[in-house]
Amino acid sequence: MSETLANLSSESRQFPPPEELAAAANVKAGAYEEAAADRLAFWATQADRLTWAKKWDQVLDWSNPPFAKWFVGGELNIAYNCVDRHVEAGRGDKVAIHWEGEPGDTRTITYAELLKLVSQAANTLTELGIAAGDRVAIYMPMIPEAAVAMLACARIGATHSVVFGGFSVDALSTRIKDADAKLVITADGGYRRGKPSALKPTVDEAVAKSPSIENVLVVRRTGQDVEWTDKDKWWHETVEQASPEHQAQPFDAEHPLFILYTSGTTGKPKGILHTTGGYLTQVSYTHNAVFDLKPETDVYWCTADIGWVTGHSYIVYGPLSNGATQVMYEGTPDTPGRDRFWQIVDKYKVSILYTAPTLIRTMMKWGDDIPAGYDLSSLRVLGSVGEPINPEAWMWYRENIGRNRTPIVDTWWQTETGGVMISPLPGVTATKPGSAMTPLPGITADVVDDQAESVPNGGGGFLVLRDPWPSMLRTIWGDDKRFLDTYWSRFGAGAGSGDEWIYFAGDGAKKDEDGALWLLGRVDDVMLVSGHNISTTEVESALVSHPSVAEAAVVGATDPTTGQAIVAFVIPRGSVDTEGDAGDQLNVELRNHVSKTLGPIAKPRQIMLVPELPKTRSGKIMRRLLKDVAENRSLGDVTTLQDSAVMELISKGMQTGKSED
Ligand code: WT7
Repeated sequence: MSETLANLSSESRQFPPPEELAAAANVKAGAYEEAAADRLAFWATQADRLTWAKKWDQVLDWSNPPFAKWFVGGELNIAYNCVDRHVEAGRGDKVAIHWEGEPGDTRTITYAELLKLVSQAANTLTELGIAAGDRVAIYMPMIPEAAVAMLACARIGATHSVVFGGFSVDALSTRIKDADAKLVITADGGYRRGKPSALKPTVDEAVAKSPSIENVLVVRRTGQDVEWTDKDKWWHETVEQASPEHQAQPFDAEHPLFILYTSGTTGKPKGILHTTGGYLTQVSYTHNAVFDLKPETDVYWCTADIGWVTGHSYIVYGPLSNGATQVMYEGTPDTPGRDRFWQIVDKYKVSILYTAPTLIRTMMKWGDDIPAGYDLSSLRVLGSVGEPINPEAWMWYRENIGRNRTPIVDTWWQTETGGVMISPLPGVTATKPGSAMTPLPGITADVVDDQAESVPNGGGGFLVLRDPWPSMLRTIWGDDKRFLDTYWSRFGAGAGSGDEWIYFAGDGAKKDEDGALWLLGRVDDVMLVSGHNISTTEVESALVSHPSVAEAAVVGATDPTTGQAIVAFVIPRGSVDTEGDAGDQLNVELRNHVSKTLGPIAKPRQIMLVPELPKTRSGKIMRRLLKDVAENRSLGDVTTLQDSAVMELISKGMQTGKSED
């Protein structure tokens, strides 16, 4: 039988949790046993973290798979859980959000102030004719009103659809149309890279194409000139004048909370639907467990944008349901200087930092001396999410940001899973650089071959989830069939074999000799070289482990002899000389380095030294475009590319670049 996915790399470094943190950890090793003994009882216990207006009758209804119902019959209000109850408990003066604008302006918002804003916004939405079940599109910069808008929708039972503020007219209008939204909440603009960046003109164009939109609520952030139509209302003339009294009504546990569109790498965006009780239970539990949040003393900072699921679950719903104090930052990491992140950590004494591998690798490229100039001693837990984190980037994060003291939690999850699924627990797990380690208590993940058989330790294959989990997507908005086809038809009952419903995540993964999980990227990206399935992640990590490399992206290009051949695009570290002979030498050295690290089968046919890599707005490498370049095709769809000039640079280099030696 052929291997499903080769296991080429090995890692022997391991870091046990700091003793002090372990002793006082929110979640200890016993949680795994507790959950394994009775998974549903375990989740019922976690649901008790929340305040329910009516208790559920049944933890899980899985009688109509894959359509799950969690906490059946239960009722609660999400905004009440995220705001009111903290104020009622006497914590109204506690800071909810330390907001830092890109130009350096700041706002401090306590839970009592947040309650006032959310109540006013809820009253305004009601006045604008928004009722429970209606959809509201949110297209905002990273300002506190973005979180307020989401919470106000949740408070009145309206389903929000946040669209990332960097997306185009087309992206916004198709999402408005798909969800049939009645209202858009937006701003005149936000600050990015040192200047105001307009949002309103995009909304104007999108609304002109969207007859379902009745009103547009506009926050004044930058003060730039805006066109005005009769649908437009200023936030400061409505919300800020509205009554601050609002009684939150409870909603059913399965009431739709939000739709969030995920494009994946291709195809029409899928409107991922999340509901109320199960979602809040899992994001609240995981935020407490994975980050070991101590709400009284921690200052938490998640650097994601509110337009991604990370912003939904780990800026808004998880942290606020737990009564956390957090930092929210409007702008880019290099404005005004490349030290902005470390300045913010130092200024607010951030103790928990949650960011993405793409940012960590960028910081690595910018150089160690930048973070070295700051006091980062407040940090006690570091998190990573969004892509596999290469062992070298993990080590850099640990050494240069964590100063060899703090645990790193590499958290695997998806828009579809709603909350973290696979991650170390900072007070329990001895971590390995580059591994997300094990499923959290209450979660059953596995790696299987193409027959859905669990692979043994040391084997690679497809990542699957075997049991329903509370924050799972309930469907794709308006398209149950696509929900079934995309996630449930590859393995198990949904594929017509066995009784078990198995969720296919679309990611490759392997189990190491100890059973720890290593994520290996999207299965669509796997390369087939001389009959071996090789993950892009392993080759990229081997390249990044060379001291001259900051970032790498690898693709399989059609090859007459090997079927596919490995082509690598490499960004050298800042100080490395790549002119003329030095560049050629580095090229040979890197190819040999990969061969030595992973074996000759993984040796790239070709390496391109490039200044940048094409990435999506959320920082994922667009390997599809690199494949076009590697196979000398004209470029495919570049609309989701962060910086379109990048591809031109790379293609030019390719025509003059070196190939096989
Ligand atoms: C895909 C989901 C999860 C919130 C942000 C992204 C990749 C995510 C990891 C990780 C390896 C990861 C997977 C996953 N991914 N976290 N820790 N290690 N890969 O949400 O845009 O829905 O993307 O991101 O490929 O399937 P998303």
